Amino acid sequence: MNPLKELEKLEEYLKIKPLYWDLDKNEFVWLDTRLIPFQEVYRRTRDYRRVGEAIRDMEIRGAPAIGVSAAFAMALAALETTAANTDDYIEGLRRAREYLASTRPTAFNLFWALDRVWRVVEEHREEGVDAIREAVLNEALTIYVEDIKNNVEMGRIGSRLIEDGDTILTHCNTGALATAGFGTALGVIRYAWYEGKKIHVITTETRPVLQGARLNVWELKKEGIPFTLITDGMPGLVFKKGMADLAIVGADRIILTGHTANKIGTYMVALAAWDNEKPFYVAAPTSTIQPVTDPESIVIEERSPEEVRKVMGKYPITLPDVNVYNPSFDVTPPRYITAIITEKGIAYPPYMRSLKRLLEK
Ligand code: MRU
Repeated sequence: MNPLKELEKLEEYLKIKPLYWDLDKNEFVWLDTRLIPFQEVYRRTRDYRRVGEAIRDMEIRGAPAIGVSAAFAMALAALETTAANTDDYIEGLRRAREYLASTRPTAFNLFWALDRVWRVVEEHREEGVDAIREAVLNEALTIYVEDIKNNVEMGRIGSRLIEDGDTILTHCNTGALATAGFGTALGVIRYAWYEGKKIHVITTETRPVLQGARLNVWELKKEGIPFTLITDGMPGLVFKKGMADLAIVGADRIILTGHTANKIGTYMVALAAWDNEKPFYVAAPTSTIQPVTDPESIVIEERSPEEVRKVMGKYPITLPDVNVYNPSFDVTPPRYITAIITEKGIAYPPYMRSLKRLLEK
């Protein structure tokens, strides 16, 4: 069955198309998020290594978008790889998988998508190269469509938690640009807006890469959703003054205990919400949930000091040689998380039980 058939039903939710597969040219296409909100430039390639670079350099970013792009990169590798026999062909694919797995360490969707593609390679091993090639592309397209479908479903489910008139604080970009389309936490916000709820969004700027100031602002403006931009140090005051009713954020990796790795600063947003008795929700597809229980096993990416010393990779905001610490994510403990919204339902504490149940669905 053609996975793209399903896409027709989702068209109304795809005002922003952050990435896709060009069926005529067998090329992968993506919007370069580094240039947003000032320029909208699509890039395209037939080279899986180029997709890896785009993930590493954050042209493509956001856990679900990274996972879907890696699956398409495997499809490119499957089309490109030539070999005398099936074993050599699979060896070429294994190298592509290994390279792609090394591009970013925290987003669980990357490993989830690569594992899923790999299962398909194994399943078709006996049928030979052509069958594997076709099956890998089909799996990548399926992962792509599923991500959009899951986001819309998550939006529908999560919107129940948003009241007409609510002001929602969010941190980092979790919209269409962080996924195959529609978004996770911003997808929930978007869905509530489509349902006619009069909401207001407060987005942090999200230092150092400014996903809030650049990407959320661009997406919210496109939708016409009213919003206010704040700096990352302000959520405490905003909650204390009663200016926000709840917080919704996304996730790069959630484990069964409910510990949630998300953009650096998320933990402080959770603390601010908790201290002011406001709900703090996480919205993420089940492809972000790693079925393990040790929070210490979550790998936190440390990025270049230049991201902190310069804004937008260009403008210095300090002296060139200052010592910098630049972890890209933090881990919010489950006691501060009111609920986790997924496409399979809402998980409430204790997460060990509720998340397990959702994964089994
Ligand atoms: O470093 P990034 O931009 O790839 O970070 C990922 C994110 O966008 C966030 O952490 C987000 O809140 C979760 S992914 C939808």
